[in-house]
Amino acid sequence: MTPSQSYVLVTGATGFIGAHVVDNLLQRGIKVRAATRSLQKGEQLRAARQRYSSQLDIVQVGDFSDATSFSEAVKDVTGVIHVASPFSYSTTDNEKELILPAIAGVRAILEAAEREKSVERVVITSSFASVMNADRKAPPRFTYTAEDWNPLTYEESIDKKTSAVIAYRGSKKFAELEAWKFAERKPGFDIVTLCPPMTFGPTCHPVANLAGLNESNATLWKVASGKELPVSRVPFWVDVRDLATAHVEALIRPEVGGKRFVVASPEKFSYGLVGEIVAEGFSWGKERVAKGEKQVIDDSYDLDGEKAAKELGLKYTPFSETVKDFVKQAVRMEEQEKEA
Ligand SMILES: NC(=O)c1ccc[n+]([C@@H]2O[C@H](COP(=O)([O-])OP(=O)(O)OC[C@H]3O[C@@H](n4cnc5c(N)ncnc54)[C@H](OP(=O)(O)O)[C@@H]3O)[C@@H](O)[C@H]2O)c1
Repeated sequence: MTPSQSYVLVTGATGFIGAHVVDNLLQRGIKVRAATRSLQKGEQLRAARQRYSSQLDIVQVGDFSDATSFSEAVKDVTGVIHVASPFSYSTTDNEKELILPAIAGVRAILEAAEREKSVERVVITSSFASVMNADRKAPPRFTYTAEDWNPLTYEESIDKKTSAVIAYRGSKKFAELEAWKFAERKPGFDIVTLCPPMTFGPTCHPVANLAGLNESNATLWKVASGKELPVSRVPFWVDVRDLATAHVEALIRPEVGGKRFVVASPEKFSYGLVGEIVAEGFSWGKERVAKGEKQVIDDSYDLDGEKAAKELGLKYTPFSETVKDFVKQAVRMEEQEKEA
């Protein structure tokens, strides 16, 4: 796909990762159509990018439950980056709120893209959640790669006794499987899926206040602001800016069509490490940061983000930089909230 002639639809564009994908495309001179259910958030996204006004348009889409919600949105685009999917652990009905919408969203975007002959590639944001096997434990030491799939069954993921965390893993696995099944029928485009672990970093999407932070950054802020020191379920992470680059490279590199990538930093993290970085990096850090038992980073297994780095030309950001960039921004938001 030639960047200067590309026109890319980004779904979930007003979300944490989606907005970074939008910015990465705009900075390369690529024309973007940003899809959102909320025109108000869409307009906020656009207002914050006035210098790109001729390169960016907003389209309102319906909920995933409406199979035709992307019909208008795909008109004339050459590529699609499908980031949108429900990501929340505050659910009352996991199947209805997480699993069915995630699958329906993938199906709706792919069916719409198939009807629009201009589409050459669809990049889909999956997750490490669709790769990991919660029962697999070292020793022997092992490395997860993009060849691995979460063994969770559909029945397990919709079980009423299942937590939202497990159900979310099911939502990502079954949505991604839906995409690969669709690709088998050889539509007029190819697909690439990306499986990032926890994604952190500064935000550039419309966030009204700290309470409105996305799930992953909200946890970082809990540590920095002294509310809680949770234990991370997995030690893998990626910077949101690196992940945005991965999405765009996955779209424009012809040779990566049909591939699945794990996009992950080689460094490992714990929330204890977040606490140490904040304590050392900010004058108020030691005093305020959440305290708790010393956390040891689980170094008994690995995740191979190097293949993605090589094939997509990525250079992973150091964890301390990611944490500090985000915390600086969150502190500014807190000050603004106090002043308002
Ligand atoms: N953050 C992470 O740590 C992480 C890690 C791995 C993978 N991911 C994946 O990355 C993607 C984006 O996550 P994020 O952290 O950026 O989350 P986010 O800020 O919550 O953004 C998700 C976007 O998806 C759209 N969406 C959610 N439910 C929808 C529905 N039922 N119908 C239509 N649109 C819906 C929303 O768009 P509107 O409200 O604007 O319509 C929202 O902006 C998701 O696919 C997530 O699974 C995230």
